[in-house]
Amino acid sequence: MEQKRVLTLTDPVANKTLALPVMTGTEGPAVVPIGNLYRELGYFTFDPGFLSTASCRSAVTFIDGEQGVLLYRGYPIEQLAQHSTFLEVAYLLMYGELPSARQRDDFTHTIDCHTMINESLKRFYDGFYHDAHPMAIMVGVVGSLSAFYHDSTDIHDPHHREVAAHRMIAKMPTIAAACYKHSVGEPVVYPKNDLGYAANLLHMMFSVPSEEYVVDPVAERALDLIFMLHADHEQNASTSTVRLAGSSGANPFACIASGIAALWGPAHGGANEAALKMLEEIGDVKNVPKYIARAKDKDDPFRLMGFGHRVYKNYDPRAKVIRAACHEVLAKLGDPDDPLFELAMALEEAALKDEYFIERKLYPNVDFYSGLIYKALGIPTNMFTVMFAIARTAGWVAQWMEMIAEPQQRIGRPRQLYVGPPRRDYPVTD
Ligand code: SDX
Repeated sequence: MEQKRVLTLTDPVANKTLALPVMTGTEGPAVVPIGNLYRELGYFTFDPGFLSTASCRSAVTFIDGEQGVLLYRGYPIEQLAQHSTFLEVAYLLMYGELPSARQRDDFTHTIDCHTMINESLKRFYDGFYHDAHPMAIMVGVVGSLSAFYHDSTDIHDPHHREVAAHRMIAKMPTIAAACYKHSVGEPVVYPKNDLGYAANLLHMMFSVPSEEYVVDPVAERALDLIFMLHADHEQNASTSTVRLAGSSGANPFACIASGIAALWGPAHGGANEAALKMLEEIGDVKNVPKYIARAKDKDDPFRLMGFGHRVYKNYDPRAKVIRAACHEVLAKLGDPDDPLFELAMALEEAALKDEYFIERKLYPNVDFYSGLIYKALGIPTNMFTVMFAIARTAGWVAQWMEMIAEPQQRIGRPRQLYVGPPRRDYPVTD
């Protein structure tokens, strides 16, 4: 019988000791519950950026940053990338098991039934300039969905939660494609439910009323693969935002909108857009040393976008898959000698040999190569993070459903170390 481990925390001044019973999960680091710390010893923990903080228990995704491992409900991302599809992965993340053939067909039909959006929403887009960043539109439109779908906002009703999750997964491509059409001044294209999930998005983005549009199967497979790789990633910044918003009882559409907002940042999901812009700025392999030097210079805010990760201190397994797919997609759809791909590989090679990056265990992450595939598919740079948001919606809804169903779930409300002025009186003049 494994001996129960207990850590103890002693305050020598108060001469008090707190026993912290170690909790172990299926895989990964054990945790120590410190919820009683303030009541027992009068201290808060202090962990800005949550470097050593587990915010919840979850069975959805496991990451081993040292080994470069990513599991969705226990299945390695490499195997899912090779054998599965995005909708099957979305089912797996939501329900915890791979679907049977019948379950997969039923789930696909259910998602298909929700791909359209309320016609009134089209007027929402007209309120944005054509050059509005698509992520700004996504936050607004997704946040407004609760105004239309009152019949799936009762978070205490499991059926409402499931319908809201289905609606989010189904409608994100339609909302995203309408963002793109608004930016190019073309009419919105309605979903065609006889197309697959990724194919439908490409159809809604790139088909025009004046001519037939046939989805390229290589493009469809590449986009579906990228969606699988981006579907979930444990308690990253945007997922933690969704969980925190959900902990207040906010409706699911508002929670997903908060996740989209958090994803937008260049340190997070915005890195794919920033990485491609960085490659375009570097422009030529001969400039690589100069930019590597800038990335290392503490006085220069420049960082290698698409490099480094809070958890992965090894090569991001998703980047490995995307890097390999790049070759196939560029050869068939883009420019096989795309100077940006050659530049990306030269930059990666130079960085991985440099002591600064080796010492800090900085490797390419999922955002380093994904932009090259999006570019080869004809997706504009400002839509890259929108693509990320479409995929991550599967993980956000799965994590949100898990959080809401957690018996011990309560509102998330961190404390602080106060460093402001002590109490003082208002200067009243007679
Ligand atoms: C995603 O959390 C997730 O799971 C996110 C994600 C997901 O699927 O949800 O994986 C998606 O967001 C991937 C990350 C995309 N972001 C980028 O590519 C932006 C560039 N990367 C960095 O901003 C940074 O690496 C982060 C934000 C990703 C991680 O930041 P950390 O963990 O807070 O690391 P840090 O900033 O403390 O850096 C540690 C050291 C520092 O140097 P020292 O102070 O120790 O001397 O490494 C340096 C940093 O300056 N460093 C970099 C660097 N990343 C870290 N130096 C140059 N270029 C970089 N990219």
